[in-house]
Amino acid sequence: MGNPWWREAVVYEIYVRSFADASGDGVGDLAGVRQRLPYLAELGVDAIWLTPFYRSPMADGGYDVADHRDVDPLFGTLDDFDAMVADAHALGLRVIVDIVPNHSSSAHAWFQAARRGEGRERYIFRDGGELPPNDWQSVFGGPAWTRLPDGQWYLHLFDSAQPDFNWRNPEVHAEFLDVLRFWLDRGVDGFRIDVAMGLYKAEGLPDTPVERQAFRTESPIWGQPEVHEVYRQWRKVLDSYDGDRMAVGEVWTDSIEDLALYLRPDELHQSFNFAWMEAPWSPTAFRTVIDDTMAIGASPTWVLSNHDVVRHVTRYGEGLPYSTTGLARARAALLTMLALPGSAYLYQGEELGLPEVTDLPPEARQDPIFARSEGKVPGRDGCRVPLPWSGTAAPYGFSPAGVAPWLPQPIEWAALTAGRQASDPESTLSFYRRALQARRVLRGSLPARITWLDSPEGALFFTRGPLTCAVNCGFNPVRLPPHDRVLIASAPLSDDMLPPDTAAWLHRS
Ligand code: GLC
Repeated sequence: MGNPWWREAVVYEIYVRSFADASGDGVGDLAGVRQRLPYLAELGVDAIWLTPFYRSPMADGGYDVADHRDVDPLFGTLDDFDAMVADAHALGLRVIVDIVPNHSSSAHAWFQAARRGEGRERYIFRDGGELPPNDWQSVFGGPAWTRLPDGQWYLHLFDSAQPDFNWRNPEVHAEFLDVLRFWLDRGVDGFRIDVAMGLYKAEGLPDTPVERQAFRTESPIWGQPEVHEVYRQWRKVLDSYDGDRMAVGEVWTDSIEDLALYLRPDELHQSFNFAWMEAPWSPTAFRTVIDDTMAIGASPTWVLSNHDVVRHVTRYGEGLPYSTTGLARARAALLTMLALPGSAYLYQGEELGLPEVTDLPPEARQDPIFARSEGKVPGRDGCRVPLPWSGTAAPYGFSPAGVAPWLPQPIEWAALTAGRQASDPESTLSFYRRALQARRVLRGSLPARITWLDSPEGALFFTRGPLTCAVNCGFNPVRLPPHDRVLIASAPLSDDMLPPDTAAWLHRS
């Protein structure tokens, strides 16, 4: 038996409402995903992760689930889901779906009942008088409590339309075990667990200083020890199915030791490596994250962007949306992460070099963060703008011509469509295809560890067996380390020199 598929997989995140709109209502859907699967197979990824497509009033883009066992009509039907999975599997693509266990939608049948006073022990209700029961703040801004007309308060760590479940109630456990089985029986290969370090809150819900509230260890809000028992149970369910079903956790924490707890052999298979995503463009920062990640000893993962953060072209470009430096660094960072042991998570559109859209009009913004912060925090819509597929004007093949997508697409994207980039060998899309292909060729023949080489100021060199990866984060060109040939580079090389903001894979027998 070789490695399970997920260990070295490249997983492509599909933010469903912004990927492809087959129904023509301006919102992406499952039929749109299905139509575009050949594009993903050709890109060379191994798996797709779909963000929530379940029944939802869309207060948080579907992370407010009203029914965990059905598809929202906006995205299609269960039949559309089954057809999409069948096609994905036929193309050799695995399918990971999102599971949102920390909270439901306020439109969920359980919360509707709770509103009427029935089954409130499934959520976190407290008496509070005029003031909320404690000082916890919502991640999206404002208090984490909302009061019902009868005087009781309920906890919501996110939007007020996302009440937190009470995981101290066995009924919640049973419900989620059943939901896992529902989707496993439909053939999914894995789950991405939303807010995986949430679920349990410290007994007594104590007040806590605001600086200890944000996704930290030693907080009464996140990372309580009881949560690990949930994942032990879930692991047993996953292991009871054939075909290496897996779970990847969205675990926000500031401690590598804490992260390692979720990755014990009887818990989650993987968690996102947000330290890599958050590292600045710096060889020392990269090296520290790589060393820390490898030290955990579990299956490593790498990620540069997702639907919650500013796209990395823009982050690396000092906030300027169409910075050539940002794009060069983004390409170099991809090559670096694909050379590392473990699996890589890509976010839709990064293969097109899409930047963050920083100038969305306020009236177009839909992220609850924007409204809850009274417009002070722009929120996450800028990384969720629908993909440009083809053509020279919006909707760029995302929706049928004449249909306005749910967020407006910039005019600059005419130059960035998948169709246009596919026929340009120098494009970011062509580069991604070559890089993923090169990784496939090497995969399996590379050791699970890396060895650092001495590297000049500003650069980072490491080897994995016959592969050497060199990345230059500095301001001056550096001489490439010894090699017999260049396998791929993120930008043209000349005279054995690696320019700034460039990475290369070198072969040495
Ligand atoms: C996760 C999701 C994010 C969502 C939040 C609440 O962080 O990635 O998009 O808003 O959970 O469910």
